Amino acid sequence: MSAELLRVRGLSKSFAVGGGIRRRARLQAVAEVDLDLAPGETLGLVGESGCGKSTLARLILRLIEPDAGEILFEGQDVRALPRAELRALRRRMQIVFQDPFASLNPRMTVAEIVGEGLRVHRLASGAELDKRVAELLETVGLSPDQAARYPHEFSGGQRQRIGIARALALEPRLVVADEPVSSLDVSIQAQILNLLLELQQRFGLAYLFISHDLRVVRHLSRRVAVMYLGRIVEIAQSHDLYDRPLHPYSVALLSAVPIPDPVIESRRRRIILTGDVPSPVAPPSGCRFHTRCWLRERLGNPDRCVSEDPSLRALETGHEVACHFAEEVDDSAEQLQVTGRPARHRLPAASDVLASGALASDATSATADEPAKADGVSTPDGAAPIADPTPAAGDA
Ligand SMILES: Nc1ncnc2c1ncn2[C@@H]1O[C@H](COP(=O)(O)OP(=O)(O)OP(=O)(O)O)[C@@H](O)[C@H]1O
Ligand code: SF4
Ligand SMILES: [Mg+2]
Repeated sequence: MSAELLRVRGLSKSFAVGGGIRRRARLQAVAEVDLDLAPGETLGLVGESGCGKSTLARLILRLIEPDAGEILFEGQDVRALPRAELRALRRRMQIVFQDPFASLNPRMTVAEIVGEGLRVHRLASGAELDKRVAELLETVGLSPDQAARYPHEFSGGQRQRIGIARALALEPRLVVADEPVSSLDVSIQAQILNLLLELQQRFGLAYLFISHDLRVVRHLSRRVAVMYLGRIVEIAQSHDLYDRPLHPYSVALLSAVPIPDPVIESRRRRIILTGDVPSPVAPPSGCRFHTRCWLRERLGNPDRCVSEDPSLRALETGHEVACHFAEEVDDSAEQLQVTGRPARHRLPAASDVLASGALASDATSATADEPAKADGVSTPDGAAPIADPTPAAGDA
């Protein structure tokens, strides 16, 4: 049996779109994704809207069928499982959805919603079921007295707590959290994130934590995967990604995240990606990011970016990056600006770029005298609680 909880290889999914008299086109939502997740670990998944995050989540849970690829969960081949065994496996893999309004049945009471899985799997009934529901509500910071109420009687944060209680009912080992706080106010977001951290420590849960917000992901994740147009373009330990992003797209995403140090922040410049997000119906040839890549432009638009699709490769920094020229990002003016840290040892430059003379000189020393990184955000390994401006877990 695999040491990993979850192992995904080459996972792909395309959807038929269009129609009528036009031939139906295929939209490639997820393309050859590889992921690993250890028990009790959190992997953050970030990327712009439409890049395939939710599709990937649904594929992993087999809520939709993949076109290709392998999904192993606790060593079991998820794609090969017959329906009855898949149902049993779903007890150990649960999902929390983005929209706490749409994801709870308005005609069911909280007790019915939270207890549904226990009933369906015949794990509890009668007084035992009521007791278990009451415990679950307490676990997520709600009162058991609220069990007979309906979802519309709760605030957004409280509804998300109900969704989390429902996910926990079957004692899963993996919870896929698909933008679980995106629809909530910032103060409520902090409460829900702290609840997720607390539950992870208490129950040893692993999370695949999906968000378009890099700040939110950082709080929870030991590792972070960055997705672009259906592909993973970078995976690294969380602190490495935020301190030393090596894919030009990751650098651009991070440039939009403010650093809580006014001096450093005042010197930062956002990297605005040129061009629209390409259509996943006709993704760009070679590297999918080449139509918007600031590095390619700086390197003199090498043909390789257009002709050769970069696969994820491991660098000595421990990052896996899908860029032919990732070494050129290290200690570049852009990377130093975005992270606000001083220059240090740079990865050896890619020999083919140096040989071609295509590498434009970058201002690696321009920010070398900047103060050390002052991003005061806590890291997930320390699991420090997130600053919460409101005192209690009331959410209302
Ligand atoms: N059932 C479907 N039929 C056709 N296209 C789909 C379907 N589901 C998703 N897509 C398309 O697949 C792509 C990826 O969608 P997905 O919902 O996975 O993105 P996402 O990263 O979760 O975006 P968001 O951040 O907005 O939630 C999008 O272009 C979307 O329009
Ligand atoms: S392979 Fe080329 S286009 Fe793609 S990210 Fe790297 S430099 Fe940019
Ligand atoms: Mg989504």
